[in-house]
Amino acid sequence: CVGELSKTGAKVFSHVIPAGEKSKNLNTVANIYRELISHKFDRNCALAALGGGVVGDITGFAAATYMRGIPFIQIPTSLLSQADSSIGGKTGVDFEGNKNMVGAFYQPCFVYINVNTLRTLPKRELVSGLAEVIKHGLIQDRDFYEYISYNMDKIFGFDEQVLLYITKMNLRIKGNVVSQDETEKGLRSILNFGHTIGHAVESVSGFSMLHGEC
Ligand code: GLY
Repeated sequence: CVGELSKTGAKVFSHVIPAGEKSKNLNTVANIYRELISHKFDRNCALAALGGGVVGDITGFAAATYMRGIPFIQIPTSLLSQADSSIGGKTGVDFEGNKNMVGAFYQPCFVYINVNTLRTLPKRELVSGLAEVIKHGLIQDRDFYEYISYNMDKIFGFDEQVLLYITKMNLRIKGNVVSQDETEKGLRSILNFGHTIGHAVESVSGFSMLHGEC
Protein backbone atom coordinates (compact mmCIF):
# COMPACT_ATOMS: atom_id res chain seq x y z
CA CYS A 1 0.00 0.00 0.00
CA VAL A 2 2.84 2.40 0.89
CA GLY A 3 4.48 1.55 -2.44
CA GLU A 4 1.30 2.18 -4.42
CA LEU A 5 0.54 5.47 -2.68
CA SER A 6 4.14 6.64 -3.13
CA LYS A 7 3.64 6.38 -6.90
CA THR A 8 1.37 9.43 -6.63
CA GLY A 9 4.43 11.45 -5.67
CA ALA A 10 3.24 11.89 -2.10
CA LYS A 11 5.54 11.18 0.82
CA VAL A 12 4.06 8.14 2.55
CA PHE A 13 4.90 6.68 5.97
CA SER A 14 3.38 3.62 7.59
CA HIS A 15 2.72 3.05 11.27
CA VAL A 16 1.66 -0.45 12.30
CA ILE A 17 -0.24 -1.17 15.51
CA PRO A 18 -0.77 -4.57 17.15
CA ALA A 19 -4.04 -6.21 16.07
CA GLY A 20 -7.06 -6.28 18.35
CA GLU A 21 -9.17 -4.24 20.74
CA LYS A 22 -6.33 -4.15 23.30
CA SER A 23 -4.62 -1.57 21.07
CA LYS A 24 -7.61 0.76 21.15
CA ASN A 25 -6.36 3.10 23.84
CA LEU A 26 -4.78 6.52 24.36
CA ASN A 27 -1.23 5.08 24.46
CA THR A 28 -1.63 3.90 20.87
CA VAL A 29 -2.92 7.33 19.89
CA ALA A 30 0.03 8.99 21.66
CA ASN A 31 2.42 6.81 19.65
CA ILE A 32 0.72 7.97 16.46
CA TYR A 33 1.08 11.64 17.53
CA ARG A 34 4.80 11.02 18.20
CA GLU A 35 5.27 9.51 14.76
CA LEU A 36 3.38 12.39 13.10
CA ILE A 37 5.46 14.96 14.95
CA SER A 38 8.70 13.16 14.05
CA HIS A 39 7.73 13.37 10.35
CA LYS A 40 6.63 17.01 10.73
CA PHE A 41 3.01 16.31 9.76
CA ASP A 42 0.86 19.42 9.42
CA ARG A 43 -2.71 20.14 8.27
CA ASN A 44 -1.71 19.60 4.64
CA CYS A 45 -1.09 15.93 5.45
CA ALA A 46 -3.65 13.14 5.74
CA LEU A 47 -4.00 9.84 7.55
CA ALA A 48 -5.25 6.62 5.93
CA ALA A 49 -6.68 3.85 8.09
CA LEU A 50 -5.89 0.52 6.41
CA GLY A 51 -7.31 -2.30 8.52
CA GLY A 52 -10.31 -3.26 10.60
CA GLY A 53 -12.56 -1.35 12.96
CA VAL A 54 -9.92 -0.80 15.64
CA VAL A 55 -7.52 0.75 13.15
CA GLY A 56 -10.29 2.95 11.71
CA ASP A 57 -11.50 4.19 15.10
CA ILE A 58 -7.98 4.97 16.36
CA THR A 59 -6.80 6.60 13.13
CA GLY A 60 -9.96 8.69 12.95
CA PHE A 61 -9.49 9.86 16.52
CA ALA A 62 -5.83 10.70 15.92
CA ALA A 63 -6.87 12.63 12.79
CA ALA A 64 -9.65 14.43 14.67
CA THR A 65 -7.33 15.63 17.41
CA TYR A 66 -3.87 16.07 15.88
CA MET A 67 -3.37 19.81 15.30
CA ARG A 68 -7.14 20.17 15.94
CA GLY A 69 -7.97 18.02 12.93
CA ILE A 70 -6.32 16.76 9.76
CA PRO A 71 -8.02 14.88 6.89
CA PHE A 72 -8.29 11.10 6.95
CA ILE A 73 -9.56 8.32 4.74
CA GLN A 74 -10.95 4.94 5.67
CA ILE A 75 -9.77 1.80 3.86
CA PRO A 76 -11.63 -0.89 5.81
CA THR A 77 -10.47 -4.48 5.27
CA SER A 78 -12.74 -6.49 7.60
CA LEU A 79 -16.47 -7.13 7.13
CA LEU A 80 -17.26 -5.36 10.39
CA SER A 81 -15.45 -2.20 9.36
CA GLN A 82 -16.79 -2.32 5.78
CA ALA A 83 -20.35 -2.83 6.99
CA ASP A 84 -20.38 -0.44 9.88
CA SER A 85 -17.49 1.25 11.64
CA SER A 86 -15.82 2.97 8.67
CA ILE A 87 -19.07 4.77 7.83
CA GLY A 88 -20.57 7.61 9.83
CA GLY A 89 -17.64 9.30 11.53
CA LYS A 90 -17.57 7.67 14.96
CA THR A 91 -13.94 7.65 16.09
CA GLY A 92 -12.41 6.96 19.48
CA VAL A 93 -10.74 4.63 21.94
CA ASP A 94 -11.61 2.55 24.99
CA PHE A 95 -10.66 3.95 28.41
CA GLU A 96 -10.02 1.92 31.59
CA GLY A 97 -12.19 -0.97 30.45
CA ASN A 98 -14.97 1.26 29.13
CA LYS A 99 -15.69 0.73 25.46
CA ASN A 100 -15.46 3.80 23.17
CA MET A 101 -15.44 6.10 26.20
CA VAL A 102 -13.26 8.81 24.60
CA GLY A 103 -13.80 9.96 21.05
CA ALA A 104 -15.17 12.38 18.49
CA PHE A 105 -17.59 12.49 15.59
CA TYR A 106 -15.21 13.15 12.71
CA GLN A 107 -16.01 12.23 9.12
CA PRO A 108 -13.45 10.67 6.76
CA CYS A 109 -12.92 12.45 3.43
CA PHE A 110 -13.83 9.20 1.74
CA VAL A 111 -14.16 5.47 2.34
CA TYR A 112 -12.60 2.97 -0.06
CA ILE A 113 -14.01 -0.56 0.17
CA ASN A 114 -12.64 -3.57 -1.72
CA VAL A 115 -14.54 -6.72 -0.74
CA ASN A 116 -11.67 -8.93 -1.90
CA THR A 117 -9.78 -8.05 1.30
CA LEU A 118 -12.30 -10.26 3.15
CA ARG A 119 -10.63 -13.34 1.67
CA THR A 120 -7.47 -12.55 3.65
CA LEU A 121 -9.16 -12.95 7.03
CA PRO A 122 -10.13 -15.98 9.16
CA LYS A 123 -13.75 -17.13 9.11
CA ARG A 124 -14.17 -15.89 12.68
CA GLU A 125 -13.75 -12.29 11.45
CA LEU A 126 -16.39 -12.80 8.77
CA VAL A 127 -18.83 -14.18 11.35
CA SER A 128 -18.16 -11.22 13.63
CA GLY A 129 -18.76 -8.71 10.83
CA LEU A 130 -21.90 -10.46 9.73
CA ALA A 131 -23.51 -9.50 13.04
CA GLU A 132 -23.54 -5.84 11.93
CA VAL A 133 -24.86 -6.78 8.49
CA ILE A 134 -27.72 -8.79 10.01
CA LYS A 135 -28.35 -5.85 12.36
CA HIS A 136 -28.93 -3.58 9.35
CA GLY A 137 -31.50 -6.01 7.99
CA LEU A 138 -33.22 -6.36 11.36
CA ILE A 139 -33.53 -2.65 12.03
CA GLN A 140 -34.55 -1.37 8.60
CA ASP A 141 -35.03 -3.82 5.77
CA ARG A 142 -36.79 -7.16 6.01
CA ASP A 143 -36.01 -8.07 2.37
CA PHE A 144 -32.32 -7.49 3.00
CA TYR A 145 -32.47 -9.63 6.13
CA GLU A 146 -34.03 -12.45 4.10
CA TYR A 147 -31.45 -11.98 1.32
CA ILE A 148 -28.69 -12.48 3.91
CA SER A 149 -30.38 -15.61 5.28
CA TYR A 150 -30.75 -17.17 1.80
CA ASN A 151 -27.19 -16.34 0.77
CA MET A 152 -25.16 -17.51 3.76
CA ASP A 153 -23.29 -20.14 1.70
CA LYS A 154 -22.37 -17.57 -0.92
CA ILE A 155 -21.20 -15.11 1.74
CA PHE A 156 -18.91 -17.72 3.26
CA GLY A 157 -17.84 -18.72 -0.26
CA PHE A 158 -16.74 -15.08 -0.86
CA ASP A 159 -19.11 -14.67 -3.81
CA GLU A 160 -18.11 -11.23 -5.08
CA GLN A 161 -21.54 -10.25 -6.43
CA VAL A 162 -23.24 -11.14 -3.15
CA LEU A 163 -20.60 -9.33 -1.10
CA LEU A 164 -20.89 -6.24 -3.31
CA TYR A 165 -24.68 -6.23 -2.97
CA ILE A 166 -24.41 -6.58 0.80
CA THR A 167 -21.89 -3.73 0.92
CA LYS A 168 -24.19 -1.52 -1.13
CA MET A 169 -27.11 -2.26 1.19
CA ASN A 170 -25.03 -1.65 4.34
CA LEU A 171 -23.96 1.73 3.00
CA ARG A 172 -27.49 2.62 1.96
CA ILE A 173 -29.04 1.73 5.34
CA LYS A 174 -26.29 3.18 7.50
CA GLY A 175 -25.81 6.26 5.33
CA ASN A 176 -29.53 6.97 5.46
CA VAL A 177 -29.61 6.86 9.27
CA VAL A 178 -26.38 8.83 9.80
CA SER A 179 -27.34 11.55 7.35
CA GLN A 180 -30.47 12.21 9.43
CA ASP A 181 -28.78 12.14 12.84
CA GLU A 182 -25.01 12.38 12.57
CA THR A 183 -24.30 12.97 16.26
CA GLU A 184 -26.79 10.46 17.66
CA LYS A 185 -29.37 12.71 19.24
CA GLY A 186 -32.09 10.16 18.54
CA LEU A 187 -32.55 8.07 15.40
CA ARG A 188 -28.90 6.96 15.12
CA SER A 189 -29.19 4.97 18.34
CA ILE A 190 -31.12 2.41 16.26
CA LEU A 191 -27.68 1.41 14.92
CA ASN A 192 -26.77 0.36 18.47
CA PHE A 193 -29.40 -2.39 18.35
CA GLY A 194 -28.01 -5.25 20.43
CA HIS A 195 -24.95 -3.24 21.43
CA THR A 196 -25.85 -2.39 25.02
CA ILE A 197 -25.52 -6.02 26.04
CA GLY A 198 -22.82 -6.59 23.44
CA HIS A 199 -20.52 -3.87 24.79
CA ALA A 200 -20.98 -5.17 28.34
CA VAL A 201 -20.04 -8.71 27.26
CA GLU A 202 -17.07 -7.32 25.37
CA SER A 203 -15.80 -5.43 28.45
CA VAL A 204 -16.35 -8.37 30.81
CA SER A 205 -14.51 -10.70 28.41
CA GLY A 206 -11.53 -8.33 28.70
CA PHE A 207 -11.95 -7.77 24.94
CA SER A 208 -10.95 -11.38 24.26
CA MET A 209 -14.18 -11.85 22.26
CA LEU A 210 -14.78 -10.05 18.96
CA HIS A 211 -17.27 -7.17 18.75
CA GLY A 212 -19.73 -8.99 16.49
CA GLU A 213 -19.57 -12.16 18.61
CA CYS A 214 -20.60 -10.17 21.67
N1 GLY B 1 -21.95 1.56 14.99
C1 GLY B 1 -23.07 2.36 15.28
C2 GLY B 1 -22.96 3.74 14.73
O1 GLY B 1 -22.11 4.03 13.93
O2 GLY B 1 -23.74 4.58 15.12
